[in-house]
Amino acid sequence: MQDIQRGRNFMKADFGRRSNGPSDQQRGVPYPPLQKEAGDGEILALPSVDQEVISRSDFFTVVEERQSRRKYSDSPLSLAELSFLLYCTQGVKQEIRRGYATKRTVPSAGARHPFETYLAVNHVESLKSGLYRYLPLSHQLLSLGAVDDLPHRLTEANLGQRFVGDAACVFIWSCIPYRAEWRYGSHAHKNMLLDAGHICQNLYLAVEAISAGTCAIGAYDQELMDELLALDGEDEFVVYLAPVGKP
Ligand SMILES: Cc1cc2nc3c(=O)[nH]c(=O)nc-3n(C[C@H](O)[C@H](O)[C@H](O)COP(=O)(O)O)c2cc1C
Repeated sequence: MQDIQRGRNFMKADFGRRSNGPSDQQRGVPYPPLQKEAGDGEILALPSVDQEVISRSDFFTVVEERQSRRKYSDSPLSLAELSFLLYCTQGVKQEIRRGYATKRTVPSAGARHPFETYLAVNHVESLKSGLYRYLPLSHQLLSLGAVDDLPHRLTEANLGQRFVGDAACVFIWSCIPYRAEWRYGSHAHKNMLLDAGHICQNLYLAVEAISAGTCAIGAYDQELMDELLALDGEDEFVVYLAPVGKP
């Protein structure tokens, strides 16, 4: 019962209560980076975003036809399609005051955008199978290397949901909570999960527009997913994911 109560309280807005003291932003602590450092991996260019990949452009049809799709063929996604999907979900339209905030294709409370997008790639034209991280500020991909038996690892980490392991590509969103905590302190957490919902909804619509399929995934093993991406599970951890494939 205590767990239920804690869960319900987490869903409520608590901005009226300023019991958690000033946030780091209010205390004058410099703002955190907008994106995780690229590190040593190979950086790959993505094609510029091109609306040519859209096969269904009628907005009402896209909204009405949107559904969770769990059956994918072996057909690969093209790099142009991947570029479009990444832009629709986390693409940067404007950087505000060099490194302070970004305006993107999705909304985020306080424009904090506290997420990183990882890709587990099985079948994407001209990409080797393996893990990648999107670099939204430059619209590039960072290669994180191959993983032995990636489809099996994905299926296992998603509680046996085989369509996740079989997908052409899996979008995996991690959260770096401090990006929002810096401004909102303990009020940040509810909003970060709301933010994640917007990202996945844009993926649903963008995927539908290119006649592919996706399915939001909330049922996964936290430790296995964090381990797959080598995340510490404290300052960065997986919050949501979605496989994408051609029907
Ligand atoms: C937050 C969230 C988590 C979900 N997690 C899963 C999941 O782990 N596995 C799955 O098969 N579907 C999952 N779904 C998809 C829902 O089952 C699906 O949206 C629902 O059945 C309605 O179907 P529709 O999306 O086709 O309208 C999830 C959806 C949401 C929004």
